[in-house]
Amino acid sequence: MTVPSFVTAVLPTDQPPLMHQAVEEAVRLLREGEVVALPTETVYGLAANALDAAAVAKIFEAKERPTFDPLIVHLPHKDQLDLVAEVPAEIALTLKKMTERFWPGPLTILLPKKAIVPDIVTAGLPTVAVRVSSNPIFRRVISALDKPLAAPSANRFGSISPTSASAVLTELDGRIHLIVDAGACMFGLESTIIKIEPGSPKMFITIVRPGPITAEDLKAYGKVRYAMRTVVDEATEAPGQLASHYAPKTPLRLLERPSDFIPEEGKRYALMSYRGEEKDGYLNLTDWEEVMMLSPGNGKLPEAAVRFFYVLRRLDELGVDEIIAEPLHEHGMGIAMMDKLRRASARKAS
Ligand code: TXA
Ligand code: MG
Repeated sequence: MTVPSFVTAVLPTDQPPLMHQAVEEAVRLLREGEVVALPTETVYGLAANALDAAAVAKIFEAKERPTFDPLIVHLPHKDQLDLVAEVPAEIALTLKKMTERFWPGPLTILLPKKAIVPDIVTAGLPTVAVRVSSNPIFRRVISALDKPLAAPSANRFGSISPTSASAVLTELDGRIHLIVDAGACMFGLESTIIKIEPGSPKMFITIVRPGPITAEDLKAYGKVRYAMRTVVDEATEAPGQLASHYAPKTPLRLLERPSDFIPEEGKRYALMSYRGEEKDGYLNLTDWEEVMMLSPGNGKLPEAAVRFFYVLRRLDELGVDEIIAEPLHEHGMGIAMMDKLRRASARKAS
């Protein structure tokens, strides 16, 4: 795969005239079949017209993403769902209630795809992943373009998701024409991905990737279960079921309790701390090269989520021998973060 070489512009949006310019430029490039990095409420996405196979191919090139890993399709408006997806009659009512409640927002739904969606978007799968972003800049761009946008996270394949324009630049500088900078992402973790299946008396809602919309949020709409792709299954799973990568380049180890960690002589360690509280027992385990906290003092999971990829990225840049991660409370958004930490941890240990 050849990697394109461009000058990458980063356009700000923090004043109305600048915002209009950035949106206009993004729309112009997207109309020409180019890819553009755009902010969403979850993480930054690398977007292209989802109905243009040649444009979508450029996403795979810029990210060096294998073509068997399918993309999420973002719609301009929730009422346009039937442009790209079939709505099975048995789940129609539940789906309607859920899209009314959660769209625009960080919930992605897997549905049977329509023929208008090129195979490259879904990696040949019969289903398409669909969501509607609530980020105001993203909405302006997609409304003006009036086309669905395929957009994976704007990082190189296998790398940490970007939650700021500068993180996108680190990942894709020289590979794309434009990054629209709208500051930090509101949630900081990728959307929750679900499947809805008919069931009686309740629908089955399967969480394929945990994220900002939690099991607790979903349970009013059906019986919620998890089907997270396990690390062990990674090699054998079907296309599209490849376990996501969230791993830093530095080996990462997730601890269950402080006593699990015995530092080795001469090795340099950095700590990803949850609250930075001494009483939690991790701060004094060794002479840490660096300690970064996800939610200083508070232990608030949504705050930890906003900082999660930023902290991981910073710790990765230190060049230490190992990043040690404290466990987080495993409820709400803690479930998604623990899932990501487990994957990163298991990957590096093998
Ligand atoms: O929050 C998000 O979802 C962000 C923003 C940019 O919208 N996007 C994102 O995309 O996280 P990406 O490509 O990094 O992750 C999408 C995940 C991949 O793990 C992919 O395998 C899965 O969704 N996926 C996409 N289509 C699928 C399908 N038809 N069946 C199963 N999994 C699918
Ligand atoms: Mg991704």
